[in-house]
Amino acid sequence: MEANELPNLTERNKEFFNNESSTYDAHPTRVLCAKKCAEAILKEVKDLEGYEVMDFACGTGLVSQDLCAHVKSILGVDSSQNMVNEYNKKVWQQGIDKEEMQAICLELKESEGDQLNGRKFDLIVCASAYHHLDDINSMTRILASYLKQGGELIVLDLKKDPEVSHKFHRGNKDHIISHKGGFYPEELEKVFLATGMLENVSSKVAFSFPKEIEKDKEYMFEWFLVRGKKI
Ligand SMILES: C[S@@+](CC[C@H](N)C(=O)[O-])C[C@H]1O[C@@H](n2cnc3c(N)ncnc32)[C@H](O)[C@@H]1O
Repeated sequence: MEANELPNLTERNKEFFNNESSTYDAHPTRVLCAKKCAEAILKEVKDLEGYEVMDFACGTGLVSQDLCAHVKSILGVDSSQNMVNEYNKKVWQQGIDKEEMQAICLELKESEGDQLNGRKFDLIVCASAYHHLDDINSMTRILASYLKQGGELIVLDLKKDPEVSHKFHRGNKDHIISHKGGFYPEELEKVFLATGMLENVSSKVAFSFPKEIEKDKEYMFEWFLVRGKKI
Protein backbone atom coordinates (compact mmCIF):
# COMPACT_ATOMS: atom_id res chain seq x y z
CA MET A 1 0.00 0.00 0.00
CA GLU A 2 1.34 3.46 -0.90
CA ALA A 3 1.80 5.88 2.00
CA ASN A 4 -0.91 8.16 0.62
CA GLU A 5 -3.34 5.22 0.61
CA LEU A 6 -2.96 4.61 4.34
CA PRO A 7 -6.11 5.49 6.29
CA ASN A 8 -5.89 8.97 7.76
CA LEU A 9 -6.21 9.73 11.46
CA THR A 10 -9.96 10.30 11.29
CA GLU A 11 -10.46 6.94 9.57
CA ARG A 12 -8.22 5.17 12.07
CA ASN A 13 -10.18 6.76 14.95
CA LYS A 14 -13.45 5.67 13.39
CA GLU A 15 -12.26 2.10 13.08
CA PHE A 16 -10.79 2.03 16.59
CA PHE A 17 -13.88 3.47 18.29
CA ASN A 18 -16.26 1.40 16.19
CA ASN A 19 -14.51 -1.65 17.64
CA GLU A 20 -14.39 -0.23 21.19
CA SER A 21 -17.98 0.95 21.41
CA SER A 22 -19.66 -2.04 23.07
CA THR A 23 -17.05 -2.26 25.87
CA TYR A 24 -16.19 1.45 26.16
CA ASP A 25 -18.24 2.01 29.32
CA ALA A 26 -16.69 -1.04 31.01
CA HIS A 27 -13.41 0.84 31.62
CA PRO A 28 -13.58 2.52 35.06
CA THR A 29 -10.94 5.15 34.17
CA ARG A 30 -12.94 6.35 31.15
CA VAL A 31 -16.16 6.52 33.16
CA LEU A 32 -14.48 8.37 36.04
CA CYS A 33 -12.81 10.81 33.67
CA ALA A 34 -16.08 11.56 31.83
CA LYS A 35 -17.91 12.07 35.15
CA LYS A 36 -15.25 14.51 36.27
CA CYS A 37 -15.48 16.35 32.93
CA ALA A 38 -19.26 16.72 33.32
CA GLU A 39 -18.83 17.91 36.94
CA ALA A 40 -16.24 20.45 35.81
CA ILE A 41 -18.57 21.79 33.10
CA LEU A 42 -21.45 22.08 35.57
CA LYS A 43 -19.20 23.90 38.03
CA GLU A 44 -17.92 26.22 35.31
CA VAL A 45 -21.25 27.20 33.74
CA LYS A 46 -23.53 27.61 36.71
CA ASP A 47 -26.95 27.90 35.14
CA LEU A 48 -27.56 25.79 32.05
CA GLU A 49 -31.32 26.08 32.09
CA GLY A 50 -32.73 26.45 28.59
CA TYR A 51 -29.32 25.75 26.98
CA GLU A 52 -29.01 24.00 23.63
CA VAL A 53 -25.76 22.04 23.89
CA MET A 54 -23.54 20.16 21.47
CA ASP A 55 -21.35 17.40 22.90
CA PHE A 56 -18.70 17.09 20.19
CA ALA A 57 -16.90 13.71 20.01
CA CYS A 58 -19.60 12.54 22.40
CA GLY A 59 -18.62 8.87 22.48
CA THR A 60 -21.19 6.70 24.23
CA GLY A 61 -22.73 9.72 25.96
CA LEU A 62 -21.00 9.53 29.35
CA VAL A 63 -20.70 13.33 29.56
CA SER A 64 -24.03 14.08 27.86
CA GLN A 65 -25.97 11.89 30.28
CA ASP A 66 -24.73 13.90 33.26
CA LEU A 67 -25.49 17.25 31.59
CA CYS A 68 -28.85 16.24 30.15
CA ALA A 69 -30.96 16.96 33.23
CA HIS A 70 -29.60 20.52 33.44
CA VAL A 71 -30.17 21.67 29.85
CA LYS A 72 -32.94 22.07 27.29
CA SER A 73 -31.36 19.74 24.75
CA ILE A 74 -28.08 18.07 23.95
CA LEU A 75 -26.88 16.89 20.56
CA GLY A 76 -24.04 14.40 20.52
CA VAL A 77 -21.81 14.47 17.44
CA ASP A 78 -19.24 11.76 16.77
CA SER A 79 -17.47 10.30 13.77
CA SER A 80 -17.92 6.69 14.92
CA GLN A 81 -21.30 5.20 14.02
CA ASN A 82 -21.02 2.50 16.69
CA MET A 83 -20.31 5.02 19.47
CA VAL A 84 -23.34 6.99 18.28
CA ASN A 85 -25.42 3.81 18.36
CA GLU A 86 -24.37 3.15 21.98
CA TYR A 87 -25.26 6.75 22.86
CA ASN A 88 -28.70 6.49 21.31
CA LYS A 89 -29.31 3.06 22.88
CA LYS A 90 -28.71 4.66 26.29
CA VAL A 91 -31.17 7.47 25.48
CA TRP A 92 -33.79 4.92 24.47
CA GLN A 93 -33.14 2.60 27.46
CA GLN A 94 -33.41 5.50 29.92
CA GLY A 95 -36.64 6.69 28.34
CA ILE A 96 -35.18 10.10 27.52
CA ASP A 97 -37.00 12.09 24.83
CA LYS A 98 -34.99 12.22 21.58
CA GLU A 99 -35.68 15.95 21.40
CA GLU A 100 -33.71 16.29 24.66
CA MET A 101 -30.77 14.01 23.93
CA GLN A 102 -29.68 12.39 20.71
CA ALA A 103 -26.46 11.68 18.83
CA ILE A 104 -25.65 11.82 15.16
CA CYS A 105 -22.76 10.34 13.24
CA LEU A 106 -21.11 13.21 11.44
CA GLU A 107 -17.60 14.14 10.39
CA LEU A 108 -17.37 17.91 10.71
CA LYS A 109 -15.31 19.44 7.88
CA GLU A 110 -14.48 23.07 7.27
CA SER A 111 -14.82 22.57 3.50
CA GLU A 112 -18.46 21.46 3.95
CA GLY A 113 -19.68 24.73 5.48
CA ASP A 114 -22.82 24.45 7.59
CA GLN A 115 -23.57 20.74 8.09
CA LEU A 116 -26.33 21.26 10.68
CA ASN A 117 -28.94 23.21 8.72
CA GLY A 118 -28.46 26.46 10.60
CA ARG A 119 -28.59 24.90 14.07
CA LYS A 120 -26.55 26.87 16.64
CA PHE A 121 -25.71 26.18 20.28
CA ASP A 122 -25.44 28.04 23.59
CA LEU A 123 -22.67 25.71 24.68
CA ILE A 124 -20.38 23.28 22.85
CA VAL A 125 -18.32 20.88 24.95
CA CYS A 126 -15.62 18.47 23.90
CA ALA A 127 -14.25 16.09 26.52
CA SER A 128 -11.08 14.05 26.15
CA ALA A 129 -11.08 14.05 22.35
CA TYR A 130 -8.97 17.00 21.14
CA HIS A 131 -5.83 14.85 21.39
CA HIS A 132 -7.33 12.59 18.70
CA LEU A 133 -7.66 15.43 16.16
CA ASP A 134 -4.95 16.21 13.66
CA ASP A 135 -6.06 19.78 12.91
CA ILE A 136 -7.18 21.41 16.14
CA ASN A 137 -7.13 24.89 14.56
CA SER A 138 -9.63 23.88 11.92
CA MET A 139 -11.87 21.98 14.36
CA THR A 140 -11.91 24.92 16.79
CA ARG A 141 -13.00 27.24 13.96
CA ILE A 142 -15.72 24.76 12.98
CA LEU A 143 -17.00 24.42 16.55
CA ALA A 144 -16.94 28.20 17.10
CA SER A 145 -18.99 28.62 13.92
CA TYR A 146 -21.81 26.56 15.47
CA LEU A 147 -22.08 28.78 18.56
CA LYS A 148 -24.74 31.41 19.02
CA GLN A 149 -23.40 34.88 19.74
CA GLY A 150 -22.33 34.84 23.41
CA GLY A 151 -22.31 31.03 23.41
CA GLU A 152 -19.37 29.18 24.93
CA LEU A 153 -16.91 26.55 23.78
CA ILE A 154 -15.40 24.35 26.50
CA VAL A 155 -12.67 21.82 25.77
CA LEU A 156 -11.31 19.43 28.38
CA ASP A 157 -8.19 17.36 27.84
CA LEU A 158 -5.02 15.94 29.33
CA LYS A 159 -2.62 18.62 30.60
CA LYS A 160 0.85 18.19 29.20
CA ASP A 161 3.51 17.39 31.74
CA PRO A 162 6.86 16.34 30.28
CA GLU A 163 7.46 14.05 33.25
CA VAL A 164 4.35 11.89 33.10
CA SER A 165 1.56 12.79 30.69
CA HIS A 166 2.98 10.83 27.74
CA LYS A 167 2.45 7.71 29.88
CA PHE A 168 -1.33 8.20 29.87
CA HIS A 169 -1.87 6.91 26.34
CA ARG A 170 0.26 3.85 26.67
CA GLY A 171 -0.21 0.59 24.80
CA ASN A 172 -0.95 0.40 21.11
CA LYS A 173 -2.97 3.60 20.80
CA ASP A 174 -0.33 5.76 19.10
CA HIS A 175 -1.97 5.32 15.70
CA ILE A 176 -5.16 7.11 16.85
CA ILE A 177 -3.55 9.93 18.82
CA SER A 178 -2.25 13.09 17.25
CA HIS A 179 -1.26 14.90 20.45
CA LYS A 180 0.30 12.26 22.67
CA GLY A 181 0.71 13.52 26.21
CA GLY A 182 -2.00 16.16 25.80
CA PHE A 183 -1.59 19.92 25.54
CA TYR A 184 -0.24 22.88 27.39
CA PRO A 185 -3.39 24.86 28.25
CA GLU A 186 -1.85 28.09 26.88
CA GLU A 187 -1.41 26.29 23.56
CA LEU A 188 -5.17 25.72 23.31
CA GLU A 189 -5.92 29.25 24.51
CA LYS A 190 -3.94 30.50 21.50
CA VAL A 191 -5.88 28.17 19.19
CA PHE A 192 -9.17 29.54 20.56
CA LEU A 193 -8.02 33.16 20.06
CA ALA A 194 -6.67 32.43 16.57
CA THR A 195 -10.20 31.63 15.37
CA GLY A 196 -10.97 35.35 15.65
CA MET A 197 -14.44 34.23 16.78
CA LEU A 198 -13.80 33.68 20.51
CA GLU A 199 -13.06 36.13 23.33
CA ASN A 200 -12.70 35.97 27.14
CA VAL A 201 -10.53 32.91 26.62
CA SER A 202 -9.18 31.32 29.80
CA SER A 203 -7.98 27.98 31.10
CA LYS A 204 -7.56 26.21 34.42
CA VAL A 205 -6.78 22.81 35.85
CA ALA A 206 -10.16 21.11 36.14
CA PHE A 207 -9.31 17.96 38.09
CA SER A 208 -6.74 15.28 38.57
CA PHE A 209 -7.21 11.55 38.77
CA PRO A 210 -5.16 8.40 39.16
CA LYS A 211 -4.58 5.78 36.49
CA GLU A 212 -2.68 2.53 36.87
CA ILE A 213 0.05 2.63 34.23
CA GLU A 214 2.37 -0.11 35.31
CA LYS A 215 1.25 -3.05 37.41
CA ASP A 216 0.36 -1.76 40.88
CA LYS A 217 1.77 1.67 40.01
CA GLU A 218 -0.65 4.56 39.75
CA TYR A 219 0.22 7.97 38.32
CA MET A 220 -1.77 11.16 38.80
CA PHE A 221 -2.85 12.97 35.64
CA GLU A 222 -4.26 16.47 35.36
CA TRP A 223 -7.11 17.49 33.07
CA PHE A 224 -7.45 21.12 32.10
CA LEU A 225 -10.39 23.09 30.80
CA VAL A 226 -10.26 25.92 28.30
CA ARG A 227 -13.27 28.10 27.58
CA GLY A 228 -14.06 30.95 25.24
CA LYS A 229 -17.10 33.05 24.36
CA LYS A 230 -18.40 33.60 20.82
CA ILE A 231 -18.01 37.21 19.79
C1 LIG B 1 -11.69 9.19 24.41
S1 LIG B 1 -13.26 9.25 23.56
C2 LIG B 1 -14.14 10.46 24.51
C3 LIG B 1 -15.64 10.31 24.40
C4 LIG B 1 -16.47 11.24 25.26
N1 LIG B 1 -16.24 12.64 24.92
C5 LIG B 1 -16.24 11.00 26.73
O1 LIG B 1 -15.65 11.87 27.40
O2 LIG B 1 -16.64 9.93 27.21
C6 LIG B 1 -12.85 10.11 22.06
C7 LIG B 1 -14.01 10.24 21.10
O3 LIG B 1 -13.61 11.10 20.03
C8 LIG B 1 -14.25 10.64 18.85
N2 LIG B 1 -13.54 11.20 17.71
C9 LIG B 1 -12.26 11.02 17.33
N3 LIG B 1 -11.99 11.75 16.22
C10 LIG B 1 -13.13 12.42 15.91
C11 LIG B 1 -13.49 13.33 14.88
N4 LIG B 1 -12.63 13.71 13.95
N5 LIG B 1 -14.77 13.81 14.86
C12 LIG B 1 -15.65 13.44 15.80
N6 LIG B 1 -15.37 12.58 16.80
C13 LIG B 1 -14.11 12.08 16.85
C14 LIG B 1 -14.16 9.12 18.96
O4 LIG B 1 -15.07 8.45 18.11
C15 LIG B 1 -14.47 8.93 20.45
O5 LIG B 1 -15.86 8.76 20.65
